[in-house]
Amino acid sequence: MLEVLSIKNLTKLFPLPGRFFRTSRSTLRNVHAVDDVTFEISDNDSLALVGESGCGKTTTGRLIVGLEKPSGGRIFFEGKEVTDRLTDGKHANNVDRSDIGEIRRKIQMIFQDPYDSLNPRMTIDEIVSEPLVVNQLGTAKDRTVKVKETLEAVGLSPASAYTQRYPHELSGGQRQRIAIARAVILNPAFIVADEPTSMLDVSVRAGIMELFRNLTERIGATYLYITHDLAVARYMVQRIAVMYLGKIVEIGPTEKILANPLHPYTKALLQAVPVPDPEVQKGEPDILGQISKPIDPPDYCRFYDRCPLRIDSCAREKHPPLRDYDNGHCAACYVID
Ligand SMILES: Nc1ncnc2c1ncn2[C@@H]1O[C@H](COP(=O)(O)OP(=O)(O)OP(=O)(O)O)[C@@H](O)[C@H]1O
Ligand code: SF4
Ligand SMILES: [Mg+2]
Repeated sequence: MLEVLSIKNLTKLFPLPGRFFRTSRSTLRNVHAVDDVTFEISDNDSLALVGESGCGKTTTGRLIVGLEKPSGGRIFFEGKEVTDRLTDGKHANNVDRSDIGEIRRKIQMIFQDPYDSLNPRMTIDEIVSEPLVVNQLGTAKDRTVKVKETLEAVGLSPASAYTQRYPHELSGGQRQRIAIARAVILNPAFIVADEPTSMLDVSVRAGIMELFRNLTERIGATYLYITHDLAVARYMVQRIAVMYLGKIVEIGPTEKILANPLHPYTKALLQAVPVPDPEVQKGEPDILGQISKPIDPPDYCRFYDRCPLRIDSCAREKHPPLRDYDNGHCAACYVID
């Protein structure tokens, strides 16, 4: 397998605004949205990033596509370092200028909210063809053909029934199909899909997931699929990374994580997954309290405050490192036997 994407010790701190949040010593406080995250994704080995709201999933995705600048760590794509791409109009110092356009073309993102992510003043034709125009690919005639092909590939057929319409004239599911069309029209090698079905009606979710899986297989794209739902991850990917307050706490092959979760947080998430058998009583997840905001968190285990298995020594050690327990099935906890 060929490594497509690799992130090493990736970190993103968001400073809390202004005087209200300064401590008495007037040091700025930070949200540790993504904290020392390392993983690799190879071709045909897509990864789901799973965790509760606020754990840092979207920020990780935005760092990968270059919409946020990392506070630390490095990003590699197809073997080349791409950490400092253009994010604010300044030129990056560790990326070859000639590579930047190609990287932009090859890494795409689909956003969570299909109502927000499409420009309401543009027609569907303008939205879907925009990446071709921006990258100066093909003649106007070539673009028309490519837009038609792509709209039909995402199930919007005949394309002519959609091209002159505006996003507000379409349903949520149709809009997300447009967002997918826009992301795949450049044949990217890697896609970050940020909860692409979570805002949609339950009845159309499965269709969009299947479309996304089939299309990415057809164009040979690998993806990072962001979701808070382990049942969705099971359907979509070969590997799962579980994130908690900015840290990866467990990562490994989908079957191993679902059959034998190691970290107490993953166990709790699995307990919350509904099962179709009415005889099976799942009960409440064995987890204390609510997820908090990672504002200058203590050095010890991020999950300590909510962990049903914690022991005193967990609070005396640093946050546990990820350890490999079974051929790439890794977890970060001191109390795994
Ligand atoms: N631009 C920003 N400025 C300040 N804080 C931010 C910013 N973006 C995200 N955060 C904070 O970083 C943390 C991680 O946010 P992020 O959106 O990555 O989480 P998430 O896992 O995608 O959550 P959700 O499931 O709700 O989408 C949160 O505490 C959030 O409030
Ligand atoms: S290290 Fe301790 S507090 Fe952290 S998850 Fe493991 S048992 Fe819980
Ligand atoms: Mg998010």
